[in-house]
Amino acid sequence: MVVLACVGGLAARAALGFPACRLVLERAFSLHKAHSIKVMENTFQLVRNIIPPLTTKKYKGQDGRIGVVGGCQEYTGAPYFAAISALKVGADLSHVFCAKEAAPVIKSYSPELIVHPVLDSPHAVRDVEAWLPRLHALVVGPGLGRDDVLLENVKGILEASKARGIPVVIDADGLWLIAQQPSLIQGYRKAVLTPNYVEFCRLYEAVLRDPMDSRDPDGAVLRLSQALGNLTIIQKGERDVISDGDQVLVCSQEGSRRRCGGQGDLLSGSLGVLVHWALLAGSEKTDGVNPLLVAAFGACALTRQSSSQAFQKYGRSMTTTDMIAEVGAAFRKLFET
Ligand SMILES: *[C@@H]1O[C@H](CO)[C@@H](O)[C@H](O)[C@H]1NC(C)=O
Repeated sequence: MVVLACVGGLAARAALGFPACRLVLERAFSLHKAHSIKVMENTFQLVRNIIPPLTTKKYKGQDGRIGVVGGCQEYTGAPYFAAISALKVGADLSHVFCAKEAAPVIKSYSPELIVHPVLDSPHAVRDVEAWLPRLHALVVGPGLGRDDVLLENVKGILEASKARGIPVVIDADGLWLIAQQPSLIQGYRKAVLTPNYVEFCRLYEAVLRDPMDSRDPDGAVLRLSQALGNLTIIQKGERDVISDGDQVLVCSQEGSRRRCGGQGDLLSGSLGVLVHWALLAGSEKTDGVNPLLVAAFGACALTRQSSSQAFQKYGRSMTTTDMIAEVGAAFRKLFET
């Protein structure tokens, strides 16, 4: 607010040949900038701290068994992108729980995924619940659609996951469901929501019963997180704004100007893995910073770096498949050098 007031006064004072305010403003902005760059550098180190080392002693599954809940008649790409991204980031096993019709399609995209055609079955909740003890994190929403039967089953799956303390990443139509019924996720600190701008505004209005204040976008992310009981929110955009109700972190790693569909699925899938790693590492490895904030920052930076690398190769013709092919190199560049 102080800065805004100063901007308002700037033109008037400059017209009077009064440069003091401009100086103060520039100092404030450059300080702010230096601060956020420092925060970014530190945060990269924290992400490196949560990555489990690759050793010969491990067994299959230890580095992550991730489940993606989504995939229906219309949408089969999104759950595939999310699940394959989880594997490319370093999960050992990736499951997709989708509607019956979507299953053969998703299987045909990749032999690397385990696909369960259960999401529209009358036993969907029971069937997914049977797998929960073997999963480290769920990604709910990619390609889910808005069919009532599917959404009702997803409610049951969310309740069952909360009861078991399984971390959940919620995106796309999973967020639409939360906007209809915020109590589903209210106060569940192991949830991370990944709204784009439109999804964010819808959620904000549903929860705070106020239109979003576009003059203070970072504050809005903080307030929505607090109103939902301090769960972690990533508002995706030109810069990704992340908050856990206490801190606000901004990820402005260079990405690309392409906005092809599927980039959000890469983010949610990689986040599934990073959330598991971060909670396993705990706050001792993250200097006391909320591990979910660190995971969120890591997934945003990785998605942006993958986008930047793919764009350098393919330019305007870049698609999400090209980005997924860059995940390995992007990960090495950001977190292993
Ligand atoms: C959320 O975090 C803020 C800032 O740390 C704190 O003031 C508030 O009490 C927390 N809310 C809940 C529900 O824990």
